[in-house]
Amino acid sequence: VSGGKPVRSGEIPLVWPQNIILVGFMATGKSHVGRILSGRTGWVLSDTDAEIVRRTKTSIHQIFQEKGEDAFRILERSVLLKVCAASDQIIVAGGGAFVDSENRQRMLGSGLVFCLSARAETIHQRLNSRSVRAGSKRPLLMGANSLKSIQSLLADRAGAYAQANYVIETDFMTPEQVVQAILRVCYRESTNGRS
Ligand code: S3P
Repeated sequence: VSGGKPVRSGEIPLVWPQNIILVGFMATGKSHVGRILSGRTGWVLSDTDAEIVRRTKTSIHQIFQEKGEDAFRILERSVLLKVCAASDQIIVAGGGAFVDSENRQRMLGSGLVFCLSARAETIHQRLNSRSVRAGSKRPLLMGANSLKSIQSLLADRAGAYAQANYVIETDFMTPEQVVQAILRVCYRESTNGRS
């Protein structure tokens, strides 16, 4: 993402979009970027995984293990249905949420969707860093954190992720730079008269 007027916090005319929605593969920085964006804009942070944990009082890992991925996806869809009906939020969606076409249409219809992307090698490195492993909620890659399995899942999802309104390649960006890029787009969109 490039161009547009730099945006300083405190003067962000976020008259549009309804929500800022972050999608993309695991370990692309969605949660971190979402938290900064929420602080910067004053918009509520709605994280689909956190909402699932809150609703079920069960960890993501445990849901996958005890109920399976299909049950998790049903919960995810139901959470998205509710979250996307509201506005003025920074929505952080779990990595698989945007792959489902119903979820995708819902998200595209309720805000500006940014896909944070990264190369398989970057994701592999991030997923295998100690701090990420310690708090892992990524049962899909449990025991299969190999570069190959990441490449394969990324390839399966590439078509869906490409349907986001904007794709931001995060490999060489800090979370703060990603936030700035997103806010620049929002500023540009709002001054382009979209509403
Ligand atoms: C998943 C990503 C995870 C979590 C679940 C499934 C996926 O969220 O929703 O483990 O299918 O890619 P993050 O993208 O926040 O890691």
